[in-house]
Amino acid sequence: MDREAHDRTSILGAMSHLTHGVYVLGTRRGRQSNAMTASWVMQASERPPCVAVAVRDDRYSRDLILESATFALSALRDDQVDVATHFSETSGEYHDKLQGVPYGLTPGGSPFLLDSLAYLDCRVMDTVRAGDHTVIVGEVTAGETLAEGYPLIYDPTEYEEALR
Ligand SMILES: Cc1cc2nc3c(=O)[nH]c(=O)nc-3n(C[C@H](O)[C@H](O)[C@H](O)COP(=O)(O)O)c2cc1C
Repeated sequence: MDREAHDRTSILGAMSHLTHGVYVLGTRRGRQSNAMTASWVMQASERPPCVAVAVRDDRYSRDLILESATFALSALRDDQVDVATHFSETSGEYHDKLQGVPYGLTPGGSPFLLDSLAYLDCRVMDTVRAGDHTVIVGEVTAGETLAEGYPLIYDPTEYEEALR
């Protein structure tokens, strides 16, 4: 392994110790709804309440979010790895991933999962380029707790198939 590859492996190894939750990121453009699994999510401000999510440039959801300027995050429960897998293993470009999944629409019009801990309804406030991802900053315009429970924490060993 050359020096550059070694450094990259070392950096990514160190970064793998960052902790992430697992969410379903829903968006809607016109009559078309889509949702994808996202774990690169963080709270970014308290006043006004804001979150940031990093979406890779080839995700079908990315353009839907940027064009509609709205998205919702559904916080998954610790027993919902199957839901995270479902929303990550295919693209909304080819499949209606929401078909058969109970979901509602936020006040802003984005889909959220009825079977989740909570949803946040967001309006895009800003975007930042970060390598092969776009960091989308959203002001949280509505939010509701749907159930009590423990959140799903990202564990790469649970998604080896989906991430391959
Ligand atoms: C646990 C998990 C977390 C993920 N987190 C992100 C993420 O934060 N950003 C991203 O761009 N893709 C992420 N993905 C990959 C997308 O969910 C996946 O590529 C999805 O099919 C994209 O859907 P779309 O093409 O319908 O937008 C994640 C996948 C998994 C399994």
